[in-house]
Amino acid sequence: MKRTSTTVAILVSLLGATNHTSARGAEKLASDNARTVQPDRYVCVVEDMLKLCEPEKGFWIDLGAGKGQVAIPLIEKTGNPVTMLDPNAEAMAEGLEAARAKGLEDRLFAVVGVAEDMPFPDNTVNFVASRGSIFFWNDPGKGLREVYRVLRPGGKAMIGGGHGSGYPKEATVEVIEQRKKKMDGEGEEAEKWSKFVKLRRPKQMQEWAEAAGLPKFQVMGKGAISAEDKRVGQGIWLLFEKKPEITARKEEDK
Ligand SMILES: C[S@@+](CC[C@H](N)C(=O)[O-])C[C@H]1O[C@@H](n2cnc3c(N)ncnc32)[C@H](O)[C@@H]1O
Repeated sequence: MKRTSTTVAILVSLLGATNHTSARGAEKLASDNARTVQPDRYVCVVEDMLKLCEPEKGFWIDLGAGKGQVAIPLIEKTGNPVTMLDPNAEAMAEGLEAARAKGLEDRLFAVVGVAEDMPFPDNTVNFVASRGSIFFWNDPGKGLREVYRVLRPGGKAMIGGGHGSGYPKEATVEVIEQRKKKMDGEGEEAEKWSKFVKLRRPKQMQEWAEAAGLPKFQVMGKGAISAEDKRVGQGIWLLFEKKPEITARKEEDK
């Protein structure tokens, strides 16, 4: 089993986060979160995740969770607890406070760390959800290898970015048009958006999955400026499952 970097990973307890929060602060965070979640690309993404992965209940991680924009609707939809993992402790503390404001304080947890060195034991995680984060990892191949390592046999991962297949069509078209306009401009802004779109191509996702040596995976979606894949709508997603080979091997040994 891989040695976990407990010195680096700090468990941010909900209790600790809320000690510093005034009632007004909590209200503001709750309303910030409500603004982030409406008009609910996150809820749409979570619906796709649950439909496509049908994850087993248990140990779920929101990887690159930020403020828990995916984690919170995941909990709301399923009741299953979620642990956020992100290098940004402050963002996660906001997520914890938002969860408390919604009465979900006993289901959302936070660990400071990175995808490339996940502070969890092998074969322990039932589901890894990750939206909008892999594009920022220093080494996506290494991060995906780590995800595979921590998944339990039968555990699933859905990693990528997008607005979800249920996101309103007009809003999706608007997002895509805006991005195309920004890309077609000039200077740094145009460069930034070209890079944004380039990183979110199906081919790029496939290369990262191959670099990780994933035995089997599926790339869904056509990227940042397309909504042609009806399964996920606009965006790009990588789906994989850790095959239950440990059990199979045990059976063979008998
Ligand atoms: C654009 S935000 C996405 C937040 C949220 N998941 C969402 O969908 O809105 C990207 C997040 O990835 C995190 N991140 C950056 N590098 C990372 C890494 N190597 N491992 C895990 N998370 C990382 C950032 O701190 C940030 O919170």
